[in-house]
Amino acid sequence: MAIRNIVRFGDKILEKECRKVEVFDERLHQLLDDMKETLAKAEGAGLAAPQVGVLRQVCVIDVGDGPVELVNPEIVRTSGEQTGAEGCLSYPDMWGEVTRPMKVTVKAQDRNGKSFKLTGEELCARALCHEIDHLHGVLFTAHATRMMTTEELEAESRAKSEGEGKA
Ligand code: CO
Repeated sequence: MAIRNIVRFGDKILEKECRKVEVFDERLHQLLDDMKETLAKAEGAGLAAPQVGVLRQVCVIDVGDGPVELVNPEIVRTSGEQTGAEGCLSYPDMWGEVTRPMKVTVKAQDRNGKSFKLTGEELCARALCHEIDHLHGVLFTAHATRMMTTEELEAESRAKSEGEGKA
């Protein structure tokens, strides 16, 4: 396994459509292993292949229950809505306020090509939408109603929790 470099915003590779995976070989397994290691080191909730410079429909998410590998993922069902701060490993120290479905079901393949479905809520639903967008060249900034720095986000959540404490 190896840590791969994460592509930063501004790089045009992040705006490209990724090709479907058709061959489930050792090279794909190596990519998935490297992406999981890179995600763990970066302490992110998800990482998509174009973020490590590979234009393939592959992503990994980890919302605290361990990494999940998704090959050729597609959203097949959504319900509800959530609005909150969303970040991206390609945009260090930047956050966007983004509305996403509260619950999503995804159809995908594992590293050996076996199909499975995964349903996620809250942060998991947000991460699935964000990573699948990456595979189609769509960045979270396209959905954000406003952008914030980490400092601004922290100041806002402090103000919010103080407000709630007084209620
Ligand atoms: Co991202």
